[in-house]
Amino acid sequence: MTQHSDSRQADRPTGRQADRPTGRQADRPTGRQADRPTVSSAGNRTLSKAKKDKNDEFYTQLVDIENELRHYRDQLRGKTIFCNCDDPFESNFFRYFALNFNTLGLKKLIATCHVKSSIAGAQLPLFDMEGLKPEGKLPYAIEINAVPDHDGDGATDLADVEYLLRHDANSSRPLEGDADYSGGDFRSRECVALLEEADIVVTNPPFSLFREYVAQLVDYGKQFLIIGNQNAITYKGVFTFIKNNKMWLGIDNGGTKWFRVPNDYDIQTESRKKIKDGVKYFSMGSVVWFTNMDNPKRHDSIPLFKKYSSAEYPAYDNYDAIDVARVADIPIDYDGVMGVPITFLDKYNPEHFELVGSNRDVGQDPSGVYGRGSMLHGKETFKRLFIRRKTGA
Ligand SMILES: C[S@@+](CC[C@H](N)C(=O)[O-])C[C@H]1O[C@@H](n2cnc3c(N)ncnc32)[C@H](O)[C@@H]1O
Repeated sequence: MTQHSDSRQADRPTGRQADRPTGRQADRPTGRQADRPTVSSAGNRTLSKAKKDKNDEFYTQLVDIENELRHYRDQLRGKTIFCNCDDPFESNFFRYFALNFNTLGLKKLIATCHVKSSIAGAQLPLFDMEGLKPEGKLPYAIEINAVPDHDGDGATDLADVEYLLRHDANSSRPLEGDADYSGGDFRSRECVALLEEADIVVTNPPFSLFREYVAQLVDYGKQFLIIGNQNAITYKGVFTFIKNNKMWLGIDNGGTKWFRVPNDYDIQTESRKKIKDGVKYFSMGSVVWFTNMDNPKRHDSIPLFKKYSSAEYPAYDNYDAIDVARVADIPIDYDGVMGVPITFLDKYNPEHFELVGSNRDVGQDPSGVYGRGSMLHGKETFKRLFIRRKTGA
């Protein structure tokens, strides 16, 4: 992630909401609205839910999965991988793990599919689905214990995966759901049982359920690599995990990622839209990987060179901390608390810095000091994380 994005993009006090997948207001200066429902009636709620569900339908490209997953190969060996927001016939997560099953030395691959998505079978045909995909509306699970080289061409390819799905009746089964959740919902009992069996969960979950999704992974003590919006860093219920080093960022967080979307997906900003070979894509500049798996980036140092001066680093009106507008400008000789852009997390090494709080959501700060908007000369600043250098670092 570039320093450019520190100041211009990631943490605008009043970020534009138009194209946000969740339509949340998390960027507002006060940060107090982030968790409040904005609907006022049952009708509005239904509409809003439908909109959210629809906005959750964007699909990760194989290249983005490869770019991140290649850093964790050793940690995947012998493991059971669970993609629990992934229709195997649409998801490139399933495709990645099925194709690399043998190379990665996986023990098992499980994918579960929620209710049929609006583009199921229509726009992302990873396989020739004739007679292959379970019929009807029922969501289903696919479990793979091995991917033999059926066609004997010396490699594992989609043809081998397709052969397996066609001929191994045990690999696919419908999911029924329970009294609380529909079939394939990551919170349903069937999916939780599969979660318990899994070692590592890898997916791009629905952004609209991100907090709940993350909380479940942490509750069940699972390793995970999941895609989320950078703004989620300061969400109530997410930041606490980050602060307590139960979750951090993956590696490939920079740049613009393009996600495949249904043709009727509403994208209001032209520059975030592209159509290639008749397929529509939506770009989200602030998408990051969240994980609790170790990676080399987490042990890197930030190259810092600036020295503290009170003129260059003003103190906040309402915190005993200084404001540092760019991560690259963190002073090397300041031992107190510093407010830095949330993009700091992309460079965070817990051996060098301690995360003290964020200026969002007082509920997540037990000391009651941080969590309120940070004021500088009477004006509220952008989103900030509060950090302190570790002794001797
Ligand atoms: C952001 S999309 C990503 C899809 C896929 N993981 C990928 O990256 O290509 C999130 C997916 O989660 C599914 N989903 C929504 N709510 C869900 C739930 N409660 N349980 C499981 N999946 C859900 C949506 O249908 C959607 O396909």
